Formats: sequence, structure tokens, C-alpha cells
Amino acid sequence: MNALARINTPNAVGDVASKKRLVLLIEDERTQRAILRIVLERDGFEVEEADDGIKGLQAFASVQPDIVLLDVRMPGMDGFAVCSALRRQPGGNRVPILMLTILNDIESINRAYEVGATDFITKPVAWPVLGHRLRYMLRASDAFEDLAKSEAELVRRVAERTADLETANRELEAFTYSVSHDLRAPLRAINGFASILSANEMMALSPAGQDLLGRVVSNATRMDQLINDMLEFSRVTRATLKGTNVDLHSLAKGIAEELRDINPAAEVEIGPLPAVNGDRAMLRQVLANLMGNALKYSAKKDKPRIEIGATSSEGETIYFVRDNGAGFDKRYAGNMFKLFRRLHRESEFPGTGVGLVIVKRIIERHGGKVWAESKVGEGACFHFTLGKAK
Ligand SMILES: Nc1ncnc2c1ncn2[C@@H]1O[C@H](COP(=O)(O)OP(=O)(O)OP(=O)(O)O)[C@@H](O)[C@H]1O
Ligand SMILES: [Mg+2]
Repeated sequence: MNALARINTPNAVGDVASKKRLVLLIEDERTQRAILRIVLERDGFEVEEADDGIKGLQAFASVQPDIVLLDVRMPGMDGFAVCSALRRQPGGNRVPILMLTILNDIESINRAYEVGATDFITKPVAWPVLGHRLRYMLRASDAFEDLAKSEAELVRRVAERTADLETANRELEAFTYSVSHDLRAPLRAINGFASILSANEMMALSPAGQDLLGRVVSNATRMDQLINDMLEFSRVTRATLKGTNVDLHSLAKGIAEELRDINPAAEVEIGPLPAVNGDRAMLRQVLANLMGNALKYSAKKDKPRIEIGATSSEGETIYFVRDNGAGFDKRYAGNMFKLFRRLHRESEFPGTGVGLVIVKRIIERHGGKVWAESKVGEGACFHFTLGKAK
């Protein structure tokens, strides 16, 4: 087959996705341009021509081609200069550029890539290959563009959902706070009137009435405790973290002194605890709640013992608070970090079930994790890590 016959061979349609794609052909040699135009049009492309670099750049700006076919050797502005200028033009970044180089001119091929060409094709051009190459490059660039669009869409959606969630959370927290806060006044009134009643009118009541009044007072007191704990939880959730260097060891020693009365018989051992960057008041609350639990749930043991320490695993410090007390069934370990969930009866060990939720929230706000291990009757061990204060 001679050259022209090959050129005239009908080929596959040049449009990648039904619509015709526009090729900007920047080539100084007239014959080459004419042949390339025939080949490309037969292949289903639309063609816009420019016979030097400057006109090529102007044409690019005005016709916004889908792909550029660019000759390397041109008088005046050569293909390399045109290519880097194209890349700097608006929209020049995402259009594929195929450079026409001389066969085996390795230096030109390298330069072509350096100045931002997508690919090169050597002269003399194997005509049947050209259309395939262009279509392949268009498909790749379309795929990149789609990918970039989906990625941007994904990022936008995640940001939108996160913002929605944050708003919902803030509203919920504000609601919890105001409900708890507003419940306090009527509850105080119930408590106050019930106390006056029991102080002044107790004798006027029957034994059954006295018992009922006693229950009213103790339930109102319990509810007051629950509300206070809920408000405390809400405060921890909303307060801003104030990061400083915190000496956990001296913090733990102070807490042990303060909480002595919970379990005076307990032997308390505090090992070395690395200092940490975090919110001092909040970390104090973490230790107080965990140590308070350790003391409370070991109070019925003969030789209660609690231990506070730290180990290191894969460069991360893991703090622990261990006791030899009642322990818990580890199947329910997940529940104990939820609001008002308790694994022991009030008659066995008193409490409201808020301490560990507060611990979890504070630790998570510090970028850490908390978990617990235990066997019923053999004590419990609470571990936690602390990331960077956020
Ligand atoms: N050291 C421990 N040993 C055994 N069980 C524990 C221990 N710490 C916590 N638990 C279990 O987890 C539950 C939740 O603990 P959390 O500290 O949140 O509440 P609480 O101690 O019951 O009440 P409070 O809100 O007054 O602290 C407890 O009710 C208890 O059943
Ligand atoms: Mg507790």
C-alpha cells in the first residue's frame, strides 16, 4: 500500500465519546499539515491548524482544543517553548499534548517530557497509529478529569456531612444542657418542699406515708445527682482544651490523698508516669474517675490494692489503673463507657454511671483511646493512651 492509499484508508471514528474532538495541529511544514489534517479528519477528529508557535498559542486560547499535536522543530518559537507556554495558559494544564519528534532523537524526547508533553510520536508518522494514540490520550485525560471531579465531589460531600453532623451534635448537646439545667429548678423545689414536709409534718403522717415521703426525698436527691453528672458530662464535651505540660505522677498522688476515704484500707502504688501535654483539669478528672472506681470497686476485698503506672508499646505510652476488686464480665465491657450504664447494682456499689463516659470523652478529645480488661472477682485494669491535645 502506498502512502496516500494508507492515508485514505477509512479508520475508526475519532470521537472518544460520541462528540467530535478538536485537535490543534501546530506544524510549520505545509505538506505535513495537509497530510495530518486528512488523516485526522478521516479518523473522525476536527482539526484547527497553526503554522507557527505564536499562532499556535493564540489558537489554543481561542478554540480551546481537546488535544494538541505539536511539532518540535519550528523556526522562531520551537515546540518545547510552545509546550511550556501552553502549560502555563489557563486550561493548558489538563489538555494532552502529543509532540512530533525525529526518530531516535533521545534528547528531544527527554526535553519534550521535561517541558510538559504528555507523550511523543516520531516522524515519519505511522498514520494508522496516530488516531489510536490520540484517542488513547484523550481517554486517559478524560478519566483523569472524571477522577479529579469525583474526588473533589467526595471531599465536598464529606465536608458537608461533617459540618451537618457537627451542627447536629452541637444542637443535641445544647439541648441536653438546657433540659438538664431547666430541670434543676423544679427538682430543687420538690426537694425543698419534701424536706420541709418531713421536718415539720412527719408525725402527722402514717408509717406508710412516712415511708413514701422518705422515698420521694431519696429519689429527688438521686435525680439531682444524675442531673449534676449529666451537666458535668456536657461541660467536658463543650469546654475548650487548654494544653500544658502535665505531671501525671504528682496529679495521681494528690488524687490518691483526696480519695482516701472511699477505701481507707487500700494500698495505692503509683509508678513512674511520663509527663504529657494536655488539659490539666481534664486529665485530673480522668485519673480521679478511674482511681475513684478502682478504690470503690475494690473496697469489699480483704487486701484492696490499686496500682497506677505506664508501659510503652511501639513508641506509644499506655497508662493503666489496676485494682484487685470486684471486676466485671468482659462481655459487657463496651456498655460501661455509655451514659448511665452500670454493670453493678446500686445496692452493691453506688454510682450514677457517668464517670467512664467522661473519661472516654476527655481521652478521645486528646486523641487517645481507653479500654478495659477484667475477670469477675479478680479485679479490673483500665488502659488509656493520650494523643496530641486538639
Ligand atoms: N474498676 C472497676 N471494677 C469493676 N467495675 C467497674 C470498674 N470501673 C467501672 N466499672 C463498671 O462500669 C460501670 C460504669 O462506671 P462509671 O465510673 O461510669 O460509673 P459509676 O462508677 O457506676 O458511677 P459514677 O458516675 O459515680 O462514676 C460501673 O457501674 C461498674 O459497673
Ligand atoms: Mg465511677
